[in-house]
Amino acid sequence: MPTAELPSATPPSTAVPAVDLRGVAVRYGPAKAPVTALEGVTLTVAEGEFVVLVGPSGCGKTTLLRVVAGFEHPTDGTAEVLGAVPSPGRGTGLVFQQPRLFPWRTVGGNLAFALARQGLARTERPARIMELLTLVGLPGFERRRTWELSGGQQQRVAIARALAGTPRLLLLDEPFAALDAITRERLQEELRTLADVTGTTVVFVTHSAEEAVLLGSRVLVMAAEPGRVAAELPIGLERGPHTEVAALRATPEFARLRGELNLALTSAAAGTGEEGQLPPAS
Ligand SMILES: Nc1ncnc2c1ncn2[C@@H]1O[C@H](COP(=O)(O)OP(=O)(O)O)[C@@H](O)[C@H]1O
Ligand SMILES: [Mg+2]
Repeated sequence: MPTAELPSATPPSTAVPAVDLRGVAVRYGPAKAPVTALEGVTLTVAEGEFVVLVGPSGCGKTTLLRVVAGFEHPTDGTAEVLGAVPSPGRGTGLVFQQPRLFPWRTVGGNLAFALARQGLARTERPARIMELLTLVGLPGFERRRTWELSGGQQQRVAIARALAGTPRLLLLDEPFAALDAITRERLQEELRTLADVTGTTVVFVTHSAEEAVLLGSRVLVMAAEPGRVAAELPIGLERGPHTEVAALRATPEFARLRGELNLALTSAAAGTGEEGQLPPAS
């Protein structure tokens, strides 16, 4: 059987990382009195990883995503995404806290606009729009007006739009922060499933420790002044593509990891912890 000769599904460890930042600093404002948004950020994200950045407001999470998306160039250090200098557009999909849809266009019209920008032929767009809407749980919504949709549905359309170009890397900046708890939970489950099914690499920003543990396969804890990565926590929660958030939250392992992450966040905020280490219990 030819299938028996297929290589293992595990990607080779020598693959180019999806994200590779080395000693990245970003400073805003005049050189004499700069605001240091990021300092000495070194991190790599392997293809297929689901990495969550968590930290308080102002610690540079958005700036870091903007560097990876190619909207911001490091003042110091180097940034590579999928083996090249990051540039907005192809290869990367972006989702923000607000859906930012065009209100004068239908749901399908919003997606068609994104597909046109990706260079997809007009005749191929309707089928792709149906596919994308099915992927985010909104089949048959193409003719709906965006203002007829709930916040959660709008954010689903924003995710579909980010997936329009079949990105290898999906960047999300606090995408569920404005949603009610139940909708948020459902979207968390769906995003996790979507990442598992498509194999897309995800970098997800949040200020919620709970959300970070629920979603990430690895969590990076950021601290402010200057914005930096202060600690890292691998998340070894057992989950399949359709594991429910509520079930995951009920496990002792989840409680343990959330406690550990809360400690790391407190220590990072106080600037007391050794880099990458938890403070001794006292
Ligand atoms: N365009 C800008 N000009 C000046 N300062 C900025 C700009 N963008 C962000 N900052 C500053 O950089 C720091 C990090 O901001 P940001 O990346 O938005 O943090 P976060 O997303 O974690 O809340 C903050 O002190 C913020 O005020
Ligand atoms: Mg932000």
